[in-house]
Amino acid sequence: MGTTEPPTFLKLVGVHERLSELFLLHQEALLAGDLALAKARLAEYELDLSAHMRAEEEILMPIYERAGEVPRGPAELFTGEHRKMLRFLRRFRDRLAELARSGRPPATREVIALLDEEAPFKGLVEHHDLRERLILYPTLDRVTSEEERVELLRRCGA
Ligand SMILES: [Fe+2]
Ligand SMILES: [Fe+2]
Repeated sequence: MGTTEPPTFLKLVGVHERLSELFLLHQEALLAGDLALAKARLAEYELDLSAHMRAEEEILMPIYERAGEVPRGPAELFTGEHRKMLRFLRRFRDRLAELARSGRPPATREVIALLDEEAPFKGLVEHHDLRERLILYPTLDRVTSEEERVELLRRCGA
């Protein structure tokens, strides 16, 4: 606080943390059987996650290319995982809609079934975020100047 820290793309880890918190809020609403709230929080999560992914793909990936071939970090790996996450989210949205269609509160086992489906998604996100923190963001730090980082982070909404 107060001191000027050198700009780093690791600042985006804060975005990941906010997103994880939002997903957890969705799961809490689901566990409480509040389908409308679970749906609203999932929609908010999807919107924010999509914005973050778009910033990574449209603003950061072209810069990442400067690094050439990065071991364990080809660009397609990150973007492929983004597609996979969005597919998961579409399925959760459909499941929630199915549960809401019955018009009655969800049975506990229906809630458990959806939470079970969401578990591998959380694993994927955790793995993806870790790889960005260990490979993508440090590499971006390496191939950019300080002024550039400030500007790029601003455009990424960090
Ligand atoms: Fe990402
Ligand atoms: Fe990210």
